[in-house]
Amino acid sequence: MKTHHVIRFLADAIDLVGVTDHGHDKRVGLIAHALGLRLGASREQAERIFVAGLLHDCGVSSTDTHDHLVAEDQWGEVDQHCERGARLVESLDCLAYLEPVVRNHHMQWHTEESEAMPQPTRLAANLVFLADRLDAWLAPGVRSREHALAKAMASMGTLFSEQFAPAVASVARDPVFWADIAQARVGQKVDEILAGIEFAPMTEKDRRTVPFLMAAIVDAKCPYTAEHSFRVAAIARRLGEHFDLPEGDCDDLETAGLLHDIGKLAIPDQIINKPGPLTAEERRVMETHAAHSYDVILRLPSMERIAELARQHHEREDGLGYPDGIGDGALPLAARILGVADVFQALTQTRSYRAGMDALQVREALAAAGRTGRLDAGVLDALKRRFDEFWHLSRGPLGLPGLSPGLAQLCQY
Ligand SMILES: [Fe+2]
Ligand SMILES: [Fe+2]
Ligand SMILES: [Fe+2]
Repeated sequence: MKTHHVIRFLADAIDLVGVTDHGHDKRVGLIAHALGLRLGASREQAERIFVAGLLHDCGVSSTDTHDHLVAEDQWGEVDQHCERGARLVESLDCLAYLEPVVRNHHMQWHTEESEAMPQPTRLAANLVFLADRLDAWLAPGVRSREHALAKAMASMGTLFSEQFAPAVASVARDPVFWADIAQARVGQKVDEILAGIEFAPMTEKDRRTVPFLMAAIVDAKCPYTAEHSFRVAAIARRLGEHFDLPEGDCDDLETAGLLHDIGKLAIPDQIINKPGPLTAEERRVMETHAAHSYDVILRLPSMERIAELARQHHEREDGLGYPDGIGDGALPLAARILGVADVFQALTQTRSYRAGMDALQVREALAAAGRTGRLDAGVLDALKRRFDEFWHLSRGPLGLPGLSPGLAQLCQY
């Protein structure tokens, strides 16, 4: 796993939050990069601005927050996602250098706070802000370039530095610039630039932190699922150990637990937070999350097994699960373990549609799921025999070896 894989993986996951507004983060990276180069930034400076652009909104997990940020230039709650994003990127040594830019990417140019910043950071953060607003003004469905450019020009000297105006005028006339941010080319262009950047080799600590970082993004989606991925990871690992699975398989179960619900980032908040049963159409949308998780995890090399496990976490023993309807005993033990860990943890947690269950209610619900063939009877039996231990992993103090307190804190509400 290399730094550019991690950046692309994060960018793809963050992109899911746009739901139908695909590619905001990637376009912001590309726009900021193009403007940086026209302003005479060095290659290294432009690359830094590019990566900051790709990850600027990593602190946004809620689709509702995404919509506010796109629709409103000065939304009242803008600071939270800047702060969260800054803390997320600084959790990886290889991305910590982006912290000040991510933290300040909504700061207006002519403010005392902005003037107090070191000049290179101030310029980089303000350039990402300009790229972010330009992309927002090129709203989906409208995408009127003239309107967006005029608005950007009118904001020079207030929101943005006046020195950016010639760069905007220059890209505006360049067909290659527009083509590079067109839907058909965005991903390819991002990969091209990423491939040309020389990143320092990833440390072992960073490699271990990547799944934790992603879980912190996923679990911040809404208060109902806070810490869910961390807890599922701990429960799945312990179940794997109980079945004497090899150490590597237990590691995979933990990683799959951390990553299994990445695809939920693409599910609109109104569906996740709906205080009642879902309609057939809402359920169909909700069920797309397993396949979304699969697609994003495959961005990381050598993650095929993890991706497959994430894809299968809603498959059922009776073949009525999704997305593939695997049945007839074909579901591997690790997937059956992950499925049980997921359902068990969810039952103990208050969700929008029901209160968290007490131990007795959970026992009864699991027994029923075993009888109908929804969950694996053997795995349920293992959980039942050491119920208190698993209950503690689900509801007790959160403790996962390797998880930094800073990241654990980020998904608490
Ligand atoms: Fe933002
Ligand atoms: Fe943004
Ligand atoms: Fe799920």
